[in-house]
Amino acid sequence: MRSVLLFGILCISAFISGCSGPATEKKNTKEIEDLTVDRHTYSNTKEVYTTHLHLELDVNFDNKTVYGVARHQMKNIGADTAVFDMKWLEIQKITLGKKNEKETDFMIGAWDKDSIMGQPLRVKIDPETEYINIYYKTTERTEALDWLSPELTNGKIHPYLYTQGQAILTRSWIPIQDSPSNRITYSADVKVPSDLMAVMSASNPTSKNTEGKYHFEMKQPIPAYLISLAVGDLAYRKLGPNCGVYSEPGMIQACANEFVDLPKMIKAAERLYGSYLWEQYDLIVLPYSFPFGGMENPRLTFVNPTVLAGDRSLVSVVAHELAHSWSGNLVTNETWNDFWLNEGFTVYFENRIMEQLYGREVADMLALIEFHELKVEMDDILSGTHPEDTKLKLALTDRNPDDGMTQIAYVKGAFFLKTLEEVVGRVKFDLFLKSYFKEFAFKTITTENFRDYLNEKLLKPNNLTFNTDEWIYEEGLPKNCVQVTSSRFNDMTALANRFAVGEDIFKKEVTYVKIKGSKRKKRVVKEITREKHITQEWQTFIRNLPKDIGKDRMSVLDDHLNFKACGNTEIMTEWYVLGIKNGYTEIKPDIEKFLIKIGRRKYLIPIYKALAETKENKSWARKVFEKAKSGYHYVSRSTVESILK
Ligand code: BES
Ligand code: ZN
Repeated sequence: MRSVLLFGILCISAFISGCSGPATEKKNTKEIEDLTVDRHTYSNTKEVYTTHLHLELDVNFDNKTVYGVARHQMKNIGADTAVFDMKWLEIQKITLGKKNEKETDFMIGAWDKDSIMGQPLRVKIDPETEYINIYYKTTERTEALDWLSPELTNGKIHPYLYTQGQAILTRSWIPIQDSPSNRITYSADVKVPSDLMAVMSASNPTSKNTEGKYHFEMKQPIPAYLISLAVGDLAYRKLGPNCGVYSEPGMIQACANEFVDLPKMIKAAERLYGSYLWEQYDLIVLPYSFPFGGMENPRLTFVNPTVLAGDRSLVSVVAHELAHSWSGNLVTNETWNDFWLNEGFTVYFENRIMEQLYGREVADMLALIEFHELKVEMDDILSGTHPEDTKLKLALTDRNPDDGMTQIAYVKGAFFLKTLEEVVGRVKFDLFLKSYFKEFAFKTITTENFRDYLNEKLLKPNNLTFNTDEWIYEEGLPKNCVQVTSSRFNDMTALANRFAVGEDIFKKEVTYVKIKGSKRKKRVVKEITREKHITQEWQTFIRNLPKDIGKDRMSVLDDHLNFKACGNTEIMTEWYVLGIKNGYTEIKPDIEKFLIKIGRRKYLIPIYKALAETKENKSWARKVFEKAKSGYHYVSRSTVESILK
């Protein structure tokens, strides 16, 4: 404490001058704000930055606390202070040195206005300081960590813990320079209860050891948001020479069945854009509270169990996270304003993997579903308070980087690349992308770096002009955006229209077709069942039903297709939203069960939003949320809270 005060006093004068003057200066800097600098970190990585981090972690489930030492190896350009990010951490002491550690002074600075960024941790160092060791513990409010009681797991016997770092939550479980612009290697020694296993985005064990002690190495440099940890009762199943899946033992067989195509996906991705450079690619299927469909933690993608539809119909999530091994993990956005470089490239790449495995028709249907979501969200954003969020290059200073997590980055980004592909031709475009991943491998880049590279390597040599700047810096969707069509989608739209006007689409149709080389005819019974169409077709069908179709027609559909309990969470979500809008109260118990079981934000948002539209439903939603919230990660909990406010 004494040292905190001392360093505090030393800093005060610097602070006073640094605080009072800038009132006017701040406006100025804001006006000429440089969008290529990461504004979501306090760290001073230009002067002194971590190159390697060694973590010593003791994971204590009894008091839901991680006790840690973060040993930072630094490259120091001559600074006397190293600044780290931290949020909701308790710092116990900080030492300098490797063998002979000496305590040093530190100061924890003020919070940002909206408490998004956390606090700067300023550590006094010498110009020659190479090692900074931060002794800390996490607190109850640590946002990255989801501590699950046994009831929230599949096995219901053991507790579970996992982390979520992206975008700026890593600082809430590790004091770190939490900026994607700095890449580090890391290692870790992690102690967990001996009946549990720990895995990280690093080299991993495949079985438990009796002591509960695990060592990890991530030898390739990664941004801080990709450091991750999961602890639970885990089993492992190998799926191919360099890939496999972790989950709780009771789910491992289901996981192995769902993800049989993983080795093929990896091969397809490598054929497209070059070798997989992270050695091993494993998945871990987490409990239902995980707030995302997937998270591309390197070597160990985190997957939501809702992806286990039972029929492999939702595996595009895995194609997406695998694609991030190139776009995102190998070539990383330098700031969160450049988020589309991660996600837009990944959605494009994901679609190419899906096309390789399942054909163009399926890939086009997937792209169309996404395009529809883009249009809905684009209109929504354009009519809101931040229409500039429809630009690919974002300006998120003073805002939560999560605000940039929209379909703009994902789908407008992907259609930008799709449009480029159409203009230059696939062969040239693929060569270009392959060279892009090679050129920028293990680097972080800005949108402008990409723009320059595109001009130099693709557009100029081919004498092409392209409205790149309109795509990147302007709102909305450029007119030259490629169009995707699907006859199967048109059929589903027609089917929805026929049903909407009262037709009995479930009537069996009997036809007789000729058998080749025989006089006899075969009796063919045509009947619409859920199995006859893929998920995206049903999504199209539901999306094209009138919003006021009425309860009776809804229940006819439920009788024949059982959308409400079909187990496919994509379809169920669309169905619940339509049901809520139609006052189809029969499905409320199913909706309640769904909201209590599943914490994936993508599904919670539309359902809670639809419920929030009427007073009665909103108060019902609040009650359900009270029961459900212990099963949501902070990320989802805070989103739902703001919807129900
Ligand atoms: N990296 C994202 C998840 C993410 C983005 C977490 C920003 C926190 C901040 C991940 O790759 C992703 O995009 N997941 C999607 C699935 C995908 C198929 C579009 C999701 O969870 O919905
Ligand atoms: Zn992604």
